[in-house]
Amino acid sequence: MLLNKRLIVGVCGGIASYKAIELVSRLQQAGALVDVIMTDHAQEFIRPLTFATVSQRPVYHNLWEPSGQAAELHIALAEQAELLAIVPATANTLAKLAHGIADNMLTAVALATKAPLLLAPAMYKGMYEHAATQVNLSILRERGASIVEPEVGHLASGAIGVGRLPELSVLMGAISMIVGRKGDLAGRRVVVTAGGTQEPIDPVRYVGNRSSGKMGYALATVARDRGAHVTLISGPVALEVPYGIELCKVETAIQMRDAVGSAITDADVLVMNAAVADFRPIAPASRKIKKNETRGSGEQGEFSLYLTRNPDILAELANADYEGSVKRLRRLIRVGFAAETHDVITHAQAKMAAKRLDLLVANDVSRLDSGFGTDTNKVYLFHANGDMEDLPVMPKIDVATAIWDRVVSLLS
Ligand code: CTP
Repeated sequence: MLLNKRLIVGVCGGIASYKAIELVSRLQQAGALVDVIMTDHAQEFIRPLTFATVSQRPVYHNLWEPSGQAAELHIALAEQAELLAIVPATANTLAKLAHGIADNMLTAVALATKAPLLLAPAMYKGMYEHAATQVNLSILRERGASIVEPEVGHLASGAIGVGRLPELSVLMGAISMIVGRKGDLAGRRVVVTAGGTQEPIDPVRYVGNRSSGKMGYALATVARDRGAHVTLISGPVALEVPYGIELCKVETAIQMRDAVGSAITDADVLVMNAAVADFRPIAPASRKIKKNETRGSGEQGEFSLYLTRNPDILAELANADYEGSVKRLRRLIRVGFAAETHDVITHAQAKMAAKRLDLLVANDVSRLDSGFGTDTNKVYLFHANGDMEDLPVMPKIDVATAIWDRVVSLLS
């Protein structure tokens, strides 16, 4: 997504400036062309050579160098940039930006560029909370800048409070999202479900499955980076919440059905990636079940659990009445998944027809390189016209890209 994108990373003089080194390195590895502009104070913390080494490009800092080239260059940089990200943004630079002061290379480029502006403030909590900084941030926000809020944590002063630069994954997420704002899913609302549901047996135990949520989170991230507004309805998973995505956490299939029902009213696409439990215990116990109090616990210690069918969310959506009501708002593209251990193609074709899907993604979860918990996936894509595509083993993020490519064609 960031391949060949022209990005400027502005670095101000704060202790968090060392974290910008890793950020620039990650952006460079993602294929972006990163021009770093440092303020004088940033150079008190880090040498320009460090950034030049990780960006593999020259680093800019002196607007006033005698040849006059920098003065010309700041216009060229400003015009070419697809994003200006200031990481970290100090209170001093925020104040200058809010008031149009352009007294160094960074603030001059910020004033000259039409590229989107991303600000990641990081400073001592007192400076961040000060009314002057807050007013400056609101001015900048109103003018269209995106602000990645600082986190609460240990600050360089030893205090604990708000002011820490967010984790690299958050900064990368924010940059990817802004750069992709005008992508081929711009203006689209998509709903992705991910993870497995947990059906309670008692307050301590549940019936669940092995879904890690990785494929669904990859789908949500890729859609975000192509400009979509993404609602991610997720069962319990151990994954970081992607930046800029509306997250709705659920536990059970019934909760997931309700969440999907409200999320799709104004959506263009539903991707049901979640491994929804097909059955749930009929009557979950309100207290922990003790092993010697269980029904049917005979001499062998058997324990019977009575299950009932959960609603099939996708099958319900295929219902004609529902289609009628949804069509009035917008046509909803429905994408389903089929996790199989055998006869993948036969089962997938049957599901495609039964659930009347626009696209079905089938995988063989018995393979080592595919399915639960892996970072790669090997899938077949089934289209409504009967076509089938057999994709090679790919990282889940690339599988997500392939799926959105097909959805974009369906949307157009
Ligand atoms: N699905 C759903 N609601 C359910 C079960 C599944 O919406 N209660 C969705 C899944 O999110 C997936 C698709 O239906 O997109 C296929 O799910 P899968 O469990 O593989 O298929 P089932 O129809 O449940 O069939 P089976 O369990 O017999 O394989």
